[in-house]
Amino acid sequence: KALRKAVIAGNWKMNNTRVETKALIEDLIPLAKDAGCDVVVCVPFTNLETAVNLTKGTNIKVGAQNCHFEAKGAFTGEISASMLTEMGVEYVVIGHSERRQYFGETDATVNKRLKAVIDAGMTAILCVGEMLEDRENGITEELVAMQTKIALGGVSKEDLSKVIIAYEPVWAIGTGKTATADQANEVCALIRATVEKLYDKEASDALTIQYGGSMNAGNAAELLSKPDVDGGLIGGASLKAPDFATIINAAS
Ligand code: G3P
Repeated sequence: KALRKAVIAGNWKMNNTRVETKALIEDLIPLAKDAGCDVVVCVPFTNLETAVNLTKGTNIKVGAQNCHFEAKGAFTGEISASMLTEMGVEYVVIGHSERRQYFGETDATVNKRLKAVIDAGMTAILCVGEMLEDRENGITEELVAMQTKIALGGVSKEDLSKVIIAYEPVWAIGTGKTATADQANEVCALIRATVEKLYDKEASDALTIQYGGSMNAGNAAELLSKPDVDGGLIGGASLKAPDFATIINAAS
């Protein structure tokens, strides 16, 4: 764990107008300035420029929540990696379960998007995780290992340094039902073992693996104390500066 960088990332999802973005980031800057971990806010596309400008010279980095894999062309409604880098974006959430559930994202397109993010020099926050039904059917390990393997297909060991994996059990997202710290750690460890098999121990030891799913100010410290949980991808609780700051402090 000491080998790895703790990363606390807020996934704002489809929340906050530009005015609200400004207020939240201004509140967050002083609260996060002494963070002992990396801090990222993943904001809607329309707020990226505002977020990048406001966080210049601070320790807060800015991420997007998706990115298309083609460089340009007839893909109405999509945004390319170079459009993001031009704006100063450094992280992109890839394969979030909401993208998989509501927007037809598949393991194959997740792999393409992940590679586009890496090729553009940004860091991908790759989301994997099982649905409640999968857990009940006892296939969590197989499913998460498969999602991880397909997403990382064709990614070199060197490029793995531009990847963070977020384990987000779908049943814990936005439900207030957090995985126990042991459940979270167990699957994070499984992901690390999968990555070790794909690459080697050096690569898996260096990989930051986050937990996401109803992580909040009250439960973050316990989740983050686990050996294979290196950070968090936080939805709801990242929309309130004091709560997000408490989670940052728990990781520092
Ligand atoms: O990507 C973060 C996420 O899906 C968790 O959301 O609201 O349960 O923290 P939330």
